Amino acid sequence: MNESSHLDELLASRASSTRRAIDPCTVVIFGASGDLTARKLIPALYHLAVERALPTPYRIIGFARREKTPDSFRSELLEALRKYSRTRTVDESVWNAFAKNIDYCQADISEAAGYGRLKQMIQSASDEKLRNNILFYLATNPSQFGEIAEHLSQVGLLTKCEDGGCLQRLVVEKPFGHDLPSAQQLNAELIRHAHENQIFRIDHYLGKETVQNILTFRFSNGIFENLWTRDSVDHVQITVAEKLGVGSRGGYYEESGAMRDMIQNHVLQVLSLVAMEPPVSLEAEAVRDEKVKLLKSVRPMTPADIARNVVRGQYFAGEIDGETRPAYRSEPKVNAKSNVETFVALKLWIDNWRWSGVPFYVRTGKNLPVSASEVRVQFKPAPNILYGAKSGVRLDPNSLTLRLQPDEGIALRFNGKVPGAATKLQPVRMQFSYDTEFGAYTPEAYERLLLEAIAADATLFIRRDEVETAWAIVDSIRSAWTDKPLTNREFYLAGTWGPTASDDLLGTDGREWKHPTV
Ligand SMILES: NC(=O)c1ccc[n+]([C@@H]2O[C@H](COP(=O)([O-])OP(=O)(O)OC[C@H]3O[C@@H](n4cnc5c(N)ncnc54)[C@H](OP(=O)(O)O)[C@@H]3O)[C@@H](O)[C@H]2O)c1
Repeated sequence: MNESSHLDELLASRASSTRRAIDPCTVVIFGASGDLTARKLIPALYHLAVERALPTPYRIIGFARREKTPDSFRSELLEALRKYSRTRTVDESVWNAFAKNIDYCQADISEAAGYGRLKQMIQSASDEKLRNNILFYLATNPSQFGEIAEHLSQVGLLTKCEDGGCLQRLVVEKPFGHDLPSAQQLNAELIRHAHENQIFRIDHYLGKETVQNILTFRFSNGIFENLWTRDSVDHVQITVAEKLGVGSRGGYYEESGAMRDMIQNHVLQVLSLVAMEPPVSLEAEAVRDEKVKLLKSVRPMTPADIARNVVRGQYFAGEIDGETRPAYRSEPKVNAKSNVETFVALKLWIDNWRWSGVPFYVRTGKNLPVSASEVRVQFKPAPNILYGAKSGVRLDPNSLTLRLQPDEGIALRFNGKVPGAATKLQPVRMQFSYDTEFGAYTPEAYERLLLEAIAADATLFIRRDEVETAWAIVDSIRSAWTDKPLTNREFYLAGTWGPTASDDLLGTDGREWKHPTV
């Protein structure tokens, strides 16, 4: 066996050995009467049941304050499933079998007796594993996470374990804090009652097939990985664009803004996957070690760097597809003088061997012309001496676009000769589309994430040092905005690609944004 096939075998065996057999499990959802449970969690669990991916047996217990019987809870969930299931039609026989596993515990999070009732419910299962192997999904306000963990611990439902075999786990929803001190505080509250191995911090972007495929694409294709360095890459663009404005979420957004809502989590997660070094294995800690290393190598910015390399923006009234969009300051529950950013563009430098001198431009915003997320790796141009010089135009440099959503796929752009006697060149695309290749079946991110949490695999969840490092990056930039009201040139028309300063960010480097199209 030669050395490379030996390595392939080793990696394959590590990959398969990381998937533990899924033991019978009780899933307890705190916030069971809320929007997330109805729209995402129950539809995801139902689809896992359709795929026969759930363990046998399993139980789902909803915990919330509203008065409901288990039957009325199930009926409401079925109604929501009919509305939100990705397949629209609900298979009645699967639902009936699935619904038999669902129960409801009505209690207030602050009421100790409620946890006693929950314990009784859990302990009533005849299967020992259902009584001990418990996934607590915290889909409530983050300010309640610490209190829930404390009560669970006091009543003996959550045991902190120091070694590997942790039976109870906590899944915590985003946002994980609103800055570094609050994230540290939340971590401290959770760590008091659960080991880091038992805490699964969600970023639903990591559950997306296309985001997981970033690592697969990079580390299973020799030709691209060889080019993935400062020698060949000119720069990288990451765009997470939303066509919608804040709409009814103004109250939430006023406390958040684009930097905390998108950059701190989704965008930095994508950046770390695109730029990290190969992990030594596909095990959770190996992958997460490399992601943290990457985030730690993002160059800290001085106030002068921030003034030069960070663009914030806020939309004012405009039109998208013939529909009038109000200014951010006129949205419901938004302060009429708000300085909250609905757009951010950043130029980041990664100070490591691989990426020295390669800028990473990232941007996100609301009320942009399209909803699309993509990573564009722009390669260095070919010397401009043959075809370019002959035609008198600069040739398009090659680029590789990883389209995360929608129209999921990967496209390679290169120059081709236009048929005919003249030597005329035109950029052409080679394209892989998920839909064409694998059909329309695309599981929802929450299906994958719930399954991984049930299986106790933390690879797709954010580790403590990761979340704190991301906050440190974001906080340093946000602190430079304190007390600095938005200036006129920071506003942008709804339906455009952000303030003109965003174009200047690349323009001064002789580059330009390539906008996603749908
Ligand atoms: N919705 C989404 O699409 C989404 C997306 C990403 C992240 N998240 C995160 O997921 C979490 C939940 O969001 P959501 O939209 O589902 O919120 P939501 O609709 O407001 O639901 C909140 C849930 O918490 C329960 N709750 C609140 N206080 C309680 C108390 N004192 N005792 C018992 N239960 C209590 C509510 O129960 P009662 O109403 O019965 O009291 C309700 O079930 C948040 O952290 C949010 O940031 C949500």
